[in-house]
Amino acid sequence: MRIEAEAVAPANIAVVKYWGKRNKQLNLPLNDSLSITLESLQVRSKVTFDENLNHDEIFVNGERLSDYETREYAGRVLEIIRKLYGKRVFARIESTSNFPSSAGLASSAAGIAALTFASNAALNLGLDDKELSKIARVGSGSACRSMFGGFVRWNKGESDEGDDSFCEQVFGPDHWPNLVDVIGIFKEEKKKVSSRSGMESSVASSSLLKCRLRFVEETFDDIIKAIRDRDVNSFFHLTMRHSNSMHAIILDSWPSMSYLNDKSFVVMDWVHEFGKAAYTFDAGPNPHILVLEENVQEVVNFLEGLGAKVIVSKIGKGPSLVRSET
Ligand code: ADP
Ligand code: DP6
Repeated sequence: MRIEAEAVAPANIAVVKYWGKRNKQLNLPLNDSLSITLESLQVRSKVTFDENLNHDEIFVNGERLSDYETREYAGRVLEIIRKLYGKRVFARIESTSNFPSSAGLASSAAGIAALTFASNAALNLGLDDKELSKIARVGSGSACRSMFGGFVRWNKGESDEGDDSFCEQVFGPDHWPNLVDVIGIFKEEKKKVSSRSGMESSVASSSLLKCRLRFVEETFDDIIKAIRDRDVNSFFHLTMRHSNSMHAIILDSWPSMSYLNDKSFVVMDWVHEFGKAAYTFDAGPNPHILVLEENVQEVVNFLEGLGAKVIVSKIGKGPSLVRSET
């Protein structure tokens, strides 16, 4: 038996960040998070379930992932998929991104979402996007938000099994058509501390973590309202506060860490002075600058002047199937 399917899924940028888990095996987070799905950053993954294989293997842009990486990310998704299918059949995955693979952009979220989406189609499991978001979450937390387009909320849930920790679309991709993300790529090396171990260290050691969780709770409805009303000032303000609150926790962890570099701080200063945009950083120094379309060129010029490669992305749709055959 040999069954394959191919899907494309988008990356996402969190405006309310996920940083800290209450369950590491199931990737159950300590707080709700909220992201924007990015049209220009797409990963395409082909999954082939093959009875002749005796383990999973995954190639990302032609490079084979180590057994550890395979097992702890994509492999976790495939284990759940196999249980639902009722047969222990292994898979080969070939994944490619339409953006520089070494750019330090979160390709894993899109890759895990594409794999989950393609597996559901290949094996005819008939799961809806909400159920798929729960499976993708176990592979990598942020991947669950790539299961939807537009503005996406990941509910942290309360259950120990994770049944209520899933994503939902809050507003569609066309809700705020002139809002764009300008991504500056400064650094192309792999980060020293993965998000997974960084957040583990923060949960174990940061004394400010509780304070951040309170901040997230107190401001979550406000940021949703700002997006609903397309209230630029309030949305930009809260987006920057949320990025800073995560990076403050990271600095407060012990041993202390920082994913930001000198250029990240130059960007932060410039955006504050510019006054018509918001920065947000994931676990890396590359800025995502959210800005209205009419002001994009100024942001692009600034980032290029700092020596960055620039990608401009609109808000995009969720995953889609390229093909499926048995
Ligand atoms: P991030 O993309 O979140 O910044 P990494 O690039 O370090 O972080 O990816 C984390 C893990 O995600 C990798 O170790 C790998 O196992 C998995 N991964 C990365 N890209 C893909 C992909 N395209 N498909 C499936 N899994 C992937
Ligand atoms: C900084 O989803 O990569 O991008 O669940 O351990 O795989 P694991 O972590 P991951 O963490 C992403 C953290 C972040 C913030 C965010 O996307 O919300």
